[in-house]
Amino acid sequence: MNVLIVDDDHTNLIIMAAVVRRLDDAEPITFSNPIEALAWLDSNEPDLILLDQMMPDMDGITLLQRVRQNKSLDAVPVIIVTADTSVDTRIRALDEGCNDFLTKPIIIPEVQARLRNLLALRQSRALLRDRAALLAAEVQRITAALQRQGEELVLRLSCAAEYRDPETGSHLERMSRYSRLIAEAAGYDREFCTNLVKAAPMHDVGKIGIPDMILLKPGRLTPAELSIMRQHASIGHRILAGSDVPLLQMAAEIALTHHEKYDGTGYPNGLAGSAIPVAGRIVAVADVFDALTSTRPYKRSWTLEAARNFLEANRGTHFDPAFVDAFIERWDEVCAIHNVYEEAYKLNHPPELHPEELH
Ligand SMILES: [Fe+2]
Ligand SMILES: [Fe+2]
Repeated sequence: MNVLIVDDDHTNLIIMAAVVRRLDDAEPITFSNPIEALAWLDSNEPDLILLDQMMPDMDGITLLQRVRQNKSLDAVPVIIVTADTSVDTRIRALDEGCNDFLTKPIIIPEVQARLRNLLALRQSRALLRDRAALLAAEVQRITAALQRQGEELVLRLSCAAEYRDPETGSHLERMSRYSRLIAEAAGYDREFCTNLVKAAPMHDVGKIGIPDMILLKPGRLTPAELSIMRQHASIGHRILAGSDVPLLQMAAEIALTHHEKYDGTGYPNGLAGSAIPVAGRIVAVADVFDALTSTRPYKRSWTLEAARNFLEANRGTHFDPAFVDAFIERWDEVCAIHNVYEEAYKLNHPPELHPEELH
């Protein structure tokens, strides 16, 4: 441990330094000029400071004030060495943050005892501080790991649903990014937007529970099949509900309500207006828009403009008008998201050349 000693008297410096050296694990750093000591303190933190009170350029208490102004030296104990035994001086020094006094002429065993006490205190404080920092870092690491685990589980659950669902992974990515655009444009906070982008891909997780003959049926569904198909909303809700993780709570809400319509004609509960949770209303816009505009091997897609017209035509009936407006407000970004995935799709699915096209 480093002990800074500031005293204009060279003999005192030598004596104090010798006393410090006789302590276990302590090294003296000496200055006879307080100004130079201050300059050294700008870039160094000793474990203890011993200040002579009576010095020509700057007295001990003034130097102490300067030390205490430096926030990084807040916890360094300071001993004032003084021949002045008046109560006034002592109170002034204590007010300025002095931790202990030594009276001149010094008594060596007393100096040793006081130094040892303050250094021990310093050491245990440092230990506590290190332990607190270590614990804080560990808590932070575990929290981040838990969050990552939760997100990974959610992602894997969405992937599981994808195996049963003809909708592609890029649909999930696009519709969740559209959802975030809407939430941001509508002024929702960062936490809501982040949860939304992670929860939205789980909207159709309930399709896991729909039989293949209905889920994968190429033609139109009969009314009976349609009502089974529509159960995916409540099945998804059952899979996701009951968690105390906010992300899963939102995902459950979205699974249940993404087919509700603003005018109350949707399913499964025929909710209307603000009775439909915000996340459900946002995802409804993003999901339908992407379903209309995405290219699938089995269907042609709508143009972006046609899908936009559809949203506007159903503004206030199927969709919450505020979220249609928010979506249109971010139109350039919508097109950019659509085009990125469209390019990737074309790269992976080059158009086939038919023999009759060869002349
Ligand atoms: Fe759905
Ligand atoms: Fe979807």
